[in-house]
Amino acid sequence: MYDQQFWNERYATTGYLYGTEANTFLVDNAHVLRGPVLSLSEGEGRNAVFLASRGLQVLGVDCSSVGLEKAQALAKSRGLVIETEVADLDDYQPKERHFGSVVSISAHLPSSIRRKLYPLIERALQPNGIVLLEAYSENQLGRNTGGPKDIDMLMSVEKLRQEFPNLTPLLAREIEREVREGEGHTGLASVVQFIARNEA
Ligand SMILES: C[S@@+](CC[C@H](N)C(=O)[O-])C[C@H]1O[C@@H](n2cnc3c(N)ncnc32)[C@H](O)[C@@H]1O
Repeated sequence: MYDQQFWNERYATTGYLYGTEANTFLVDNAHVLRGPVLSLSEGEGRNAVFLASRGLQVLGVDCSSVGLEKAQALAKSRGLVIETEVADLDDYQPKERHFGSVVSISAHLPSSIRRKLYPLIERALQPNGIVLLEAYSENQLGRNTGGPKDIDMLMSVEKLRQEFPNLTPLLAREIEREVREGEGHTGLASVVQFIARNEA
């Protein structure tokens, strides 16, 4: 269900499913990020474009070519440059010790992918590099305000601590907050927020 065709079809409209403004957790914490930034599951570009507007070099990766075409159009409309790459995170190989930050906003992935990808993300960070992640939590399952209906793809603070064992958490919490991001994310939601540093 959550494959390339599914997302290409979801994004095949003129509007932006999650809006064109960046995720507010990202905006509030952008000061901790350094470039180059790898943005996982970038979608239609709202977060990459915001990062570029902050002067950061950004690579947005997503399995949806339709989403990333819209991302490039959004960047162009604002006179900004972003790099995008169509790739399945199931077999994605990020450059080692290359990124100042890795951003993951609503990049819900099955544990079978996270198990392979997250160790590579740890290795893709420069020394003192940062991971910034917000995702719907397992407690979002009972709500109809957004997010996958599969508990394996939903996160918890415990899962994050276990899946990024070599990073030092600077913030790791679960909260309820209003998420209003286009028609895709539409109200009170349970989210996990995680910022961690590579001290290796
Ligand atoms: C909920 S959307 C979030 C998009 C974007 N991060 C945002 O906040 O606007 C989830 C994104 O994950 C992407 N995605 C899902 N599975 C993927 C995979 N295996 N590899 C790469 N991207 C994937 C989808 O194409 C979609 O753009």
